[in-house]
Amino acid sequence: TLLIIDFGSQVTQLIARRLRELNVYCEIHPYQNVTDTFLAELAPKAIIFSGGPDSVMRDGSPRPPQSAYTLGVPILGICYGQQVMMHDLGGKVEAGENATAEFGRAWVTPTNTSGAFINGWFKDGSGREQVWMSHGDHVSEIAPGFEVLGTSPGAPFAMTADLSRNFFAVQFHPEVHHTPNGKTLYENFVKLAGFSGDWTMGAYREEMIRLIREQVGDKQVICALSGGVDSSVTGLLLHEAIGDQLTCVFVDHGLLRLNEAEEVTKMFRENYNLNLIHADETELFLGKLEGQSDPETKRKIIGGLFIDVFQKYADTIEGAEFLAQGTLYPDVIESVSFSGGPSVTIKSHHNVGGLPEKMGLKLVEPLRGLFKDEVRELGRELGLPDSFIGRHPFPGPGLAIRCPGEITREKLEILRKADAVYIDQIRKHGLYDEIWQAFVAILPVRTVGVMGDGRTYDFACALRAVTSVDGMTADYYPFTHEFLGETATRIINEVKGINRVTYDVTSKPPGTIEWE
Ligand code: XMP
Repeated sequence: TLLIIDFGSQVTQLIARRLRELNVYCEIHPYQNVTDTFLAELAPKAIIFSGGPDSVMRDGSPRPPQSAYTLGVPILGICYGQQVMMHDLGGKVEAGENATAEFGRAWVTPTNTSGAFINGWFKDGSGREQVWMSHGDHVSEIAPGFEVLGTSPGAPFAMTADLSRNFFAVQFHPEVHHTPNGKTLYENFVKLAGFSGDWTMGAYREEMIRLIREQVGDKQVICALSGGVDSSVTGLLLHEAIGDQLTCVFVDHGLLRLNEAEEVTKMFRENYNLNLIHADETELFLGKLEGQSDPETKRKIIGGLFIDVFQKYADTIEGAEFLAQGTLYPDVIESVSFSGGPSVTIKSHHNVGGLPEKMGLKLVEPLRGLFKDEVRELGRELGLPDSFIGRHPFPGPGLAIRCPGEITREKLEILRKADAVYIDQIRKHGLYDEIWQAFVAILPVRTVGVMGDGRTYDFACALRAVTSVDGMTADYYPFTHEFLGETATRIINEVKGINRVTYDVTSKPPGTIEWE
């Protein structure tokens, strides 16, 4: 493993990307979690200190554990990571006066081009190299044992190294696009650290299986399976590792899409012979939701019941000691807040967080090291059908948040049918994979219409389709008028109970993707 200690840089994820491109397996961990014990257990083959917004001169600013320097492995410090390293090892850092703060494009001139780290960096052996700088503070004196490999006008110590210990520290960001030759430095660094660059999804799968077996031993594991790609891949990986020691619980809250429960349970039972409990708790959930129309109240009820139900079924599995969760790598990063201030809750997102503490279970999180696209790749590797891998995200509270106002069985039934027609339209027009997420929301209003010679008084619905990279921001999808017209006609003709169709053209922000 290559360990990246995250000090809060905006571009830490890019470091990991670069390493994956080099087929090197790495893990990012927030500095708070990287203790001496953690380091000893992980036993990384190399360490990278990321950049970060703090100043090493501030008391209490982030530090790596000092044992990092005595592990005998190569270390690369970037920006704040360079300053930390110099500060820790006996150099000096100064606050940036305007004259020395540097933001943006800069050029590094070589002062020493020997050594494997710098190999191929100054391409013609003499010329300067473009880099991207973003720093206020700067190193004013390098630590004993270090020498300068390259300088820039604003950063005399732009590139420094202690060649005897394989410690490297650079002021600029080699991981960003604006340091065009930056990948070379990563390549040289991982070679120095002895990585052979043979990390592939197949290797990851084998490694994870080995680690899961090692962690779990002969104990029982439970897993909440929703049919979404993260939980599906987690379930399959565990199934492959420990077979019958795994039991998955599919909590059916009655807020799923048309035929969803059957499709998911059938796929896992038939293709994988996985122990799967289909917890049909529709009555419980819909009963408790009756008469509730406040969005947060609805979410809280569902979240609370989900935990109760999961616990109830988990209690029937004797000797369960572990809970498997499909936590991804961006989730791990997002769990550290560098802003220091409390952030505002827009929506209380529903997940199974808090479960392990409450149930006294230990966590198994095999996807902790992966990006979403890599999880999909692993899913393919495990033989998960494309229909599961490419699925649009579906929220934990399900159709509840697509049914603003009070939830009734009648509305849910209408919504399921309309949604199925809409998705069918999108698939037929070959648009499914272009869209991040598409769904119908049923509105809490009835409107007047005319069908045949009769008056109708039915529900209105809104179609939603957005493009997005991560769900944090989104834009509405620009369907053609023909598509919208055809879809509206089909929904009104095929779905009894709807007589008006609207298209939601709100972006996020200011809107959110879901209606509640
Ligand atoms: P919003 O509506 O907040 O949604 O713009 C952003 C993304 O998150 C999904 N979403 C949820 N997913 N539990 C989930 O697992 C939730 O409670 C939840 N609320 C929203 C939403 O579908 C979209 O992909």
